[in-house]
Amino acid sequence: MHHQWLLLAACFWVIFMFMVASKFITLTFRDPDGYSAKHEFLVLTTMPEVGKVPEEKRSPEEPKPTGHVLAGRGLLQPLVYLERLELVRNVCRDDALRNLSHTAVSTFVLNRIFVCDKHKILFCQTPKVGNTQWKKVLIVLNGAFPSIDEIPENVVHDHEKNGLPRLSSFSEAEIQRRLKTYFKFFIVRDPFERLISAFKDKFVHNPRFEPWYRHEIAPGIIRKYRRNRTETRGIQFEDFVRYLGDPNRRWLDLQFGDHIIHWVTYAELCAPCEIAYSVIGHHETLESDAPHILREAGIDHLVSYPTIPPGITAYNKTKVERYFLGISRRDIRRLYARFQGDFKLFGYQKPDFLLS
Ligand SMILES: *[C@@H]1O[C@H](CO)[C@@H](O)[C@H](O)[C@H]1NC(C)=O
Ligand SMILES: *[C@@H]1O[C@H](CO)[C@@H](O)[C@H](O)[C@H]1NC(C)=O
Ligand SMILES: *[C@@H]1O[C@H](CO)[C@@H](O)[C@H](O)[C@H]1NC(C)=O
Repeated sequence: MHHQWLLLAACFWVIFMFMVASKFITLTFRDPDGYSAKHEFLVLTTMPEVGKVPEEKRSPEEPKPTGHVLAGRGLLQPLVYLERLELVRNVCRDDALRNLSHTAVSTFVLNRIFVCDKHKILFCQTPKVGNTQWKKVLIVLNGAFPSIDEIPENVVHDHEKNGLPRLSSFSEAEIQRRLKTYFKFFIVRDPFERLISAFKDKFVHNPRFEPWYRHEIAPGIIRKYRRNRTETRGIQFEDFVRYLGDPNRRWLDLQFGDHIIHWVTYAELCAPCEIAYSVIGHHETLESDAPHILREAGIDHLVSYPTIPPGITAYNKTKVERYFLGISRRDIRRLYARFQGDFKLFGYQKPDFLLS
């Protein structure tokens, strides 16, 4: 009798330890955004819905002049956010950059945009800026789960089950109505740092649950773009740069399917010249941009934003220099030529230290 109880206790202990361990593993490795655990600072805590839901902030049928002076609750947006939108409008008018800034609002783009009907928010997902956390916030706000902690990891990206539909799942008229009247935002970061981050997460860390990057995509890139044929190491950043800078890489992109979302331009992902976004956040200034977005979207009384550890989002020139070391000027120039639209649209400085 006595050792039966002991056995039972031991079983519970094993199960408990397993649960703790699996929770840890989930947090550490299962982030499809590629944001490693130590960057998981965007843990938003939802607060109880006190008071009124901000339904009065805008009427759905009245097209809001997106990103203009009156936004949210009639407050002036800080100048920097207005300047970002003004810059996008100006760059979109520049015919020389037309091919690099304009994109059709295709199913590919509509698939990137997530819909929170309850609070009239559209969120265009861009990789490598902690977007999983934003999605969790919107899932909770949509009401499918009561809090962020209660969303199972495997549901975050399952848009059949998580109550966070893609804009592409609506009819044409419903899509247009939402694009005209909803609060719309997305987040960008320095285009080259973003590519380094994508390379590290998809090809260096090689998460076990996404084996196709290393087993299918990397060999495809190496086959076509490796310069030194005697080099036998796995994919190098140089191979990736040469692939991205090739104006004729389209046939390869088609083979890679939607995985290219991790390295196609922001312009191609979110169509900023075609869709009048309300706010464009920058990863480098997320400390102020995130609360600003919550405020402008009228959800700051429903979710709070935790402190972001200092320095974690800052642009790191040393890192960029290190990654591009040994890569030819010609290849870097071709890469810049391809991403020039993103640099100009979002006000990122041309990396002359790599190009001249
Ligand atoms: C833009 O693309 C079109 C068609 O692909 C091409 O004919 C045109 O020369 C390009 N314009 C610029 C400025 O690159
Ligand atoms: C090519 O790669 C091999 C193996 O890493 C290396 O020994 C050789 O120096 C490389 N050649 C050039 C021209 O970089
Ligand atoms: C910048 O990147 C370099 C190289 O990866 C790293 O050693 C350094 O700690 C980083 N600096 C900061 C401020 O994070």
